[in-house]
Amino acid sequence: MLFIWLCIIFVPCILIPVVVYLRPSPKKSVNGKHVVVIGGSSGIGKSVAIVAAKEGANVTIIARNVEKLNYAQKEIESYKCCKEQIISKISVDICDYESLEQNFSKIETIVGPIFMMVNCAGMAICGEVEKFTLDEIKQLVDINFLGSLYSVKAIVPKFKMRKEGIIVLTGSQVTLMGMYGYSVYSSCKFALRGLAESLYMEVKPYNISVTLALPPDTDTPGFANENKTKPTETKLISDTAGLATPENVAKKLVNDALTGKFFSYVGFESYMVTTLCTGMSPFSTFLDVIMEATVLGLLRIISAFYIISFNKIVKKCHENKTKKIM
Ligand SMILES: NC(=O)c1ccc[n+]([C@@H]2O[C@H](COP(=O)([O-])OP(=O)(O)OC[C@H]3O[C@@H](n4cnc5c(N)ncnc54)[C@H](OP(=O)(O)O)[C@@H]3O)[C@@H](O)[C@H]2O)c1
Repeated sequence: MLFIWLCIIFVPCILIPVVVYLRPSPKKSVNGKHVVVIGGSSGIGKSVAIVAAKEGANVTIIARNVEKLNYAQKEIESYKCCKEQIISKISVDICDYESLEQNFSKIETIVGPIFMMVNCAGMAICGEVEKFTLDEIKQLVDINFLGSLYSVKAIVPKFKMRKEGIIVLTGSQVTLMGMYGYSVYSSCKFALRGLAESLYMEVKPYNISVTLALPPDTDTPGFANENKTKPTETKLISDTAGLATPENVAKKLVNDALTGKFFSYVGFESYMVTTLCTGMSPFSTFLDVIMEATVLGLLRIISAFYIISFNKIVKKCHENKTKKIM
C-alpha cells in the first residue's frame, strides 16, 4: 500500500518536469514582424537580413557606411515575399549608445515594434598581443564587446515592456576557446558569453530569449580583412577547418533563435567545442543535456588531439622563426 502511494506521489513529480523539459519550444515566426539586424550591410548580417526577408519580416539593417547600406537594402528588397514588407536602413555606429537608442525608437514609430534584434557588427584583427597598438585594442573592445552591450541595453526595456522579444549576439568559435593570434579578439568575444548567459536569466521571465551565435570561419568581406592580419600560426590552424557560407550560418542562426536555442553553431568542430564548454550554460530541452552528458568524455579525448596538433603547428613555426634569426 505504501509503495502504491509512493508511486502516485513520486512518479508524477519526476515525470512531469522531465516531459516538460524534453519538449522542444515551438518555432516562432518572423512573418509580419520587425527584425533589426545590426551589421546587416555585409557578410553574415546581410545573409540574416535576407533569411528574415524571405520569411516575411519587415527588416531594418544598421551599419555605418551609407553606400554599403544602400546596396544591401536593394539586394534584400529582391528577396521580399510580399510587396507590403518594409526593408529599411539606418546609418549608426553601434559604439554611439545615445544615437543607437534614439534610432531604435525612431524606427519603431515608422516600421513597428522590434520583435527580434540580431547584432552581427564585429571585426577581427589578429596578431600576437604585444604587437597591437592601444588604438587597435580599443577599437576591438568597442565594436565587439561594448557595441553588443549597448545594443542590449537599448533594446531590453522595449522588449520587457512588451513581454516579447528575441536577442541574438554574435560571438565566434573563439568565444569558447583561445587560439594563437586571437588574444585581443577572443577576449572580447569571451565577454559576450558572460553577457549572454546573465542576460538569458534576467529576461527569461519576460518571454525574451537570448541566442549566442558562434560562427566558424565564414566566407565574408570581414573574413577576407581578418586574413590580412593573420600570423602564419593562426592561418595554419584555421586552415585545418573548413570555410562556411554566410547563407548557411544565417539560416542556422535564425532557426536556432526562433526555436529559443541558447547556442547557435554550424559544423562538427563547432558542435564539439560548444558541447565541451556547455558547463552551466542554459539549455533548451532536457534531451540536449542527456546527449551532451553522454558524449562529453569522448569529445574531450578528441579535443586533446586537436590541441596537440595546434601546439605542434605553433612549435614548428617558432622553430622556423628561430632558424631564420640564427
Ligand atoms: N566571417 C567569419 O569568419 C566570422 C567567424 C566568426 C565570427 N564572426 C563574427 O560575425 C560577425 C559578422 O562578421 P562578418 O564576417 O559577416 O563581418 P563583415 O562582413 O565585415 O560585416 C560586418 C558588418 O558590421 C558592420 N559594422 C562594423 N562595425 C560597426 C559599427 N561600429 N557600428 C555599426 N555597424 C558596424 C559593417 O558595416 P560598416 O563597416 O559599414 O559599419 C558590416 O555591415 C562579427 O561579429 C564577427 O566577429 C565572423
